[in-house]
Amino acid sequence: MNIREIIETDKKYFMNTFGDRTPVCFEYGKGMHLWDTDGKKYTDFLAGIAVSGLGHSHPALVNAIREQAGKVIHTSSLYYIEKQALLAKKIVEISCADKVFLANSGAEANEGAIKLARIFFKKRGEDHKYDIITLKKSFHGRTLTTTAATGQQKYQGPYVPLTPGFRHVAGNDIEALKAEIDESTCAVMLEPIQGEGGVNLSDYQYLKDVRELCDKFGIFLIVDEIQTGMGRTGKLFGYEHFDIKPDIFTLAKELGGGFPIGALCARGKAAGAFEPGDHGSTFGGNPLACAAALAVIETMEKEKLVENSYNVGNYFMTGLKSLALKHPVIGEVRGMGLMLGMQLKIPKAVEIRNKCFDRGWLVGSIGNNIIRMLPPLIVTKKDVDGLLMILDEVISETEIPEA
Ligand SMILES: Cc1ncc(COP(=O)(O)O)c(C=O)c1O
Repeated sequence: MNIREIIETDKKYFMNTFGDRTPVCFEYGKGMHLWDTDGKKYTDFLAGIAVSGLGHSHPALVNAIREQAGKVIHTSSLYYIEKQALLAKKIVEISCADKVFLANSGAEANEGAIKLARIFFKKRGEDHKYDIITLKKSFHGRTLTTTAATGQQKYQGPYVPLTPGFRHVAGNDIEALKAEIDESTCAVMLEPIQGEGGVNLSDYQYLKDVRELCDKFGIFLIVDEIQTGMGRTGKLFGYEHFDIKPDIFTLAKELGGGFPIGALCARGKAAGAFEPGDHGSTFGGNPLACAAALAVIETMEKEKLVENSYNVGNYFMTGLKSLALKHPVIGEVRGMGLMLGMQLKIPKAVEIRNKCFDRGWLVGSIGNNIIRMLPPLIVTKKDVDGLLMILDEVISETEIPEA
């Protein structure tokens, strides 16, 4: 099908949840690049929204999936699964977790985290302790419960009544959090850097204080690492930047390098709260998904992709800051590692994103004021130079209204 036929078919048969998408369909990819149905080449600085960390069609990932698919794809949780056990072991070895449960997506991993926090207190006879405090501008997923956890009205409005038991406070305001914690609170849940909410960083001291508060009140700290985890921020997990250990954290996105998988990871007493029958999943942690995730982690280690995220991320940040000096329309550049956002003083993010696209460069936007960049972790300084040149060109030709 050509792109016109693909769009027509989509419009006719696919539910209209995504509106008018960027009018392109990618047919294949290799490393940092994607090619569309007309054979046009693009350089990918979005990685499928922080998913394709190894880039596209990495041979290690392709071979692992191919090999496992040729053996067995799915067997169910009724039986032991070697790769599931090995992946759980690997995640425990590289993180602060003691135990892992595998799901199919980020939202599902977060659902598991919420259930885990609640059941822990329920089993202690503290039935009243089920409230979870999350942050305004947060994003935790699209299921009904993770929508309730998400601190953004625009996702919640149409679905009221939502799952009860969530309260939202402003980020980086420890007094606001302190004021909200009471007898009914079982956990605080947050992203170390809010992704969908606008690339908003937590202050170092804030997260240290949140950890301390949770300890003081005997409640759990759940860290949503779905976007920040797996090397995205220049460390393997976002929480490492803040010298804290969550009780529960969740992974998805980059964990499978594009193959759907989510992980619920827990430490200490939280790790033992689920008992047989308390939680489950048909597909979660099946042999194919686990083979993919194991290949991702092994390749990240072999190719030192966390170090690359840190080094190229710093280089990228420096470049974006120079760009901001040249173009006063750029208000602020923020982020960590390869999770970067450029705040504009005028609502031109979509226009700039589209102009980059026309030139064969993929970047994202949040609202109409933030350009977001989440390249594969294999990105090089040369790739970054290429995008900086394009951004310079595009911003220069974008009409900026007189102040
Ligand atoms: C921080 C965070 N949590 C949860 C999710 C939901 O993940 P999924 O779309 O895999 O359900 C996302 C997705 O963007 C996310 O960025």
